[in-house]
Amino acid sequence: QNPEMERLLQAYEVTAKLYHFLLKNTEYGKAAMEYLRSRGFTDKVIDQFQIGYAPNRWDTLVQFLEKRSYDPAEMEKGGLLSARHEQDGYVDRFRDRVIFPIWNRNGKVIAFAGRIIGEGQPKYLNSPETRLFNKSRTLYNLHQAKPAIRKLRQAVLFEGYGDVIAAWEAGVQHATAGMGTALTEHQAMMLKGLCDEVIICYDGDSAGQAAALKNFPILEAAGLHVKVGLLNEGMDPDDFIRQHGSERFKRQIIDGAVSTVKFKLIYLRKNHILLEEEGRIAYSREALKVIAPLSSPTEREVYLREVSSEVKVDYETLKQECNLLRQSLQ
Ligand code: CTP
Ligand code: MN
Ligand code: MN
Ligand code: MN
Ligand code: MN
Repeated sequence: QNPEMERLLQAYEVTAKLYHFLLKNTEYGKAAMEYLRSRGFTDKVIDQFQIGYAPNRWDTLVQFLEKRSYDPAEMEKGGLLSARHEQDGYVDRFRDRVIFPIWNRNGKVIAFAGRIIGEGQPKYLNSPETRLFNKSRTLYNLHQAKPAIRKLRQAVLFEGYGDVIAAWEAGVQHATAGMGTALTEHQAMMLKGLCDEVIICYDGDSAGQAAALKNFPILEAAGLHVKVGLLNEGMDPDDFIRQHGSERFKRQIIDGAVSTVKFKLIYLRKNHILLEEEGRIAYSREALKVIAPLSSPTEREVYLREVSSEVKVDYETLKQECNLLRQSLQ
């Protein structure tokens, strides 16, 4: 392998160890530790996910790497240090942030996500893309989740690192996340190489729900069966687990995951007032656009019957309209 990449891998490995040590064993890490505790992170997951803390200083890592003879220019290129503005020299890229190491599929640290402690912007500061770290080819925690994903032939896809970690602790170990809500064809193919089904479990806010909708075709195009774990407005999976516990999370969100068609119907229904005639008509029209293209007559009937009872229109009437729409689609 390329020696520059080899050095950068080593630098990430020792830096992850440093940050983990500073969090757990020093005064520097105290506030970060309290923050993590207040969010329910246990010692066990702090170790399992090698969570760390980058101190609120400019040169902790600069000096640490210098002592170990790493070339600072190379480390800057690799995303661990930043070049100073308007003068020579380098400073730590991550300062006063909780550090979540990001691994490649072989379990080597290739990047960091640094979360601010409490409120503030940006919430996460991530490593830039480097020779090691290609965002669109990385899935968080895949190295630890792989065996469970293979065994269950299923993966749960979250938005956030905290969601994956909370799920892991809740006993859902086939969990991974993209780098946020963006999902690429390549990541979908990586999952397809391990399993047949993905449960998308994004945040319950409109951004999360819209992102879920956007990612269905990407996963389906890779040949994966897709289901959706439904969360209430404004709730993240990690909030749900803290609030309701792991058993309820597994039962209600994972085992209770719905089909993408059902998800789309629920999503559309939110925009209409079904107590009003116009709302029922507009919702039916949009729902039919989702149902008509389905190739299985059984599936169409099942969903049409649901819509029929929601909008109080006879099933046969909806079926007729659905068939007309199908003809126009051919
Ligand atoms: N993200 C990011 N940069 C940001 C905001 C978000 O990279 N400024 C990515 C991170 O991967 C994050 C994911 O998008 O985990 C989901 O964002 P969000 O739901 O806002 O964050 P949470 O993971 O819920 O973070 P937390 O629970 O710590 O607030
Ligand atoms: Mn440890
Ligand atoms: Mn979110
Ligand atoms: Mn969250
Ligand atoms: Mn979130």
